[in-house]
Amino acid sequence: MTDQDGKSVEISGAHREHGRQVVDMFSRIAGWYDFLNHFLSAGQDIYWRYRLARAANPAPDGTVLDLAAGTMDVSVELLRQYPGIRVAALDYTYEMLAQGRKRKLRHGRENVIFPVRADGRALPMPDASVDAVTIAFGIRNILPREAAYKEVLRVLKPGGRFCILEFGTGSRRVWKGVYNFYLDRLLPLIGKIVSGDSGAYRYLADTIRSFPDERSLAAEMVDAGFERVYHVPMMSGIVYLHVGEKAG
Ligand SMILES: C[S@@+](CC[C@H](N)C(=O)[O-])C[C@H]1O[C@@H](n2cnc3c(N)ncnc32)[C@H](O)[C@@H]1O
Repeated sequence: MTDQDGKSVEISGAHREHGRQVVDMFSRIAGWYDFLNHFLSAGQDIYWRYRLARAANPAPDGTVLDLAAGTMDVSVELLRQYPGIRVAALDYTYEMLAQGRKRKLRHGRENVIFPVRADGRALPMPDASVDAVTIAFGIRNILPREAAYKEVLRVLKPGGRFCILEFGTGSRRVWKGVYNFYLDRLLPLIGKIVSGDSGAYRYLADTIRSFPDERSLAAEMVDAGFERVYHVPMMSGIVYLHVGEKAG
């Protein structure tokens, strides 16, 4: 696999194994995912996804790829904000999409939100075919990220936006102690009580920690070839919205 400058983006055996483990983990928690999301964020995740969808700004009758769509909350929010669009809800974990389809693909949405089970590192879509790409709490699960960036740039139309919602590192001192307690203790405990799977929520804490901070992620997006890259903190940097564009 090569990126836009012809450099190769290698997906190693370890990356493939990581991908399998991630899918296995999300398969196990899929039934509880929506409840835990809203519960653990005290409902804030609804506002975060609203901001993500607003940043996407597709053509009124355009197509948006919701990458790592999971149970499709972002896909549904995109459709709510832009009623004329079509959404490809793409995820690697069948069970996550199945939960979303069962709970959310009614009310006429079944003809405009299309679930696709695929790997974000190898998108089954033609070049320059989508107006915008969104990804909420998904990019930190995909390794190497460069493979996803390369594919997003390939499928985006010129001028199209790539909008990422992701946890920050909680590096601001005022939050640090509370945030660490939340990640290390509360999250695995509640995950275990509710879904019986503390490992999955420990994995979540680990991936948040090992994820680059907002400036490094912005630099990564620029290196990958995105233009007009910016980021916006929410909740004092607990969550960030990152936006970049494909050259017009
Ligand atoms: C934390 S969930 C986020 C789901 C949804 N976007 C949301 O806002 O709730 C992360 C999702 O990333 C998906 N994922 C992980 N690796 C992936 C890959 N290589 N390609 C596509 N999706 C992937 C997982 O299956 C999981 O559904």
